Amino acid sequence: MEYQMIAPEHSEQVLEHLRRNFFADEPLNKAAGLCQNGSSCPALEAHCAEAIQHRMSVMAVDAKEKGACKIVGVVLNGILKPGDTAKALSKLDCNDDADFRKIFDLLHRHNLKHNLFEHFDVDCMFDVRILSVDSCYRGQGIANELVKRSVAVARKNGFRLLKADATGIFSQKIFRSHGFEVFSEQPYSKYTDEDGKVILPVEAPHIKLQQLYKAICAGDQDE
Ligand code: ACO
Repeated sequence: MEYQMIAPEHSEQVLEHLRRNFFADEPLNKAAGLCQNGSSCPALEAHCAEAIQHRMSVMAVDAKEKGACKIVGVVLNGILKPGDTAKALSKLDCNDDADFRKIFDLLHRHNLKHNLFEHFDVDCMFDVRILSVDSCYRGQGIANELVKRSVAVARKNGFRLLKADATGIFSQKIFRSHGFEVFSEQPYSKYTDEDGKVILPVEAPHIKLQQLYKAICAGDQDE
């Protein structure tokens, strides 16, 4: 397996990987019914494409795949500044995809309520936004390696704080094993509408959203 930084020219190949894997498999997308039957979601694609522009993302490539390079895993990382989440939440009202709104309303409101910027007094964060591995390559440590390399990229670029919204128990375990700590949690059973109905019926074993962070101190070494 080879690991490479993702450049903007890789965008279409990365999106193709995400359409086949992350878009349908990620626990919240699955619960909302976003991108069922291999369909895509323009708003989610725009969210991913925006992260790629920050040039902090990493991909796993299987160079042995039928003589051609195949992207088998990606971690999309972006730079988050104070005010970005409030702006994204206000833009959500104009989005006509109700399923996308359900997911990002939860994520944005949770991040605004449990504000890492205020807590850590930083003016930017390294935001681990999308972690995805091809379903045929799971269980081989690829996500682990992508997170490890993301921490190294953050450190190299001088970030003091990393964050991730981990939506399932496996990604939560992966982040914690790389020194991320839980800052806040939201049980999915408590994300309800005005009639008390659960908005995102996320399948077990995934029961809650975790907002995780990792603080980097000057002089810390890579794992
Ligand atoms: N069942 C049991 N354990 C699992 C599973 C599973 N399905 N998936 C991962 N793990 C555990 C592994 O045992 C391993 O533990 P260890 O380090 O103690 O040995 C650890 O998690 C890491 O495993 P990897 O092999 O590195 O993970 P993998 O490459 O299979 O990728 C991922 C895991 C990214 C969650 C993959 O299943 C996937 O793409 N899922 C769909 C998309 C998704 O849910 N992404 C995360 C959303 S949150 C976010 O994007 C910020």
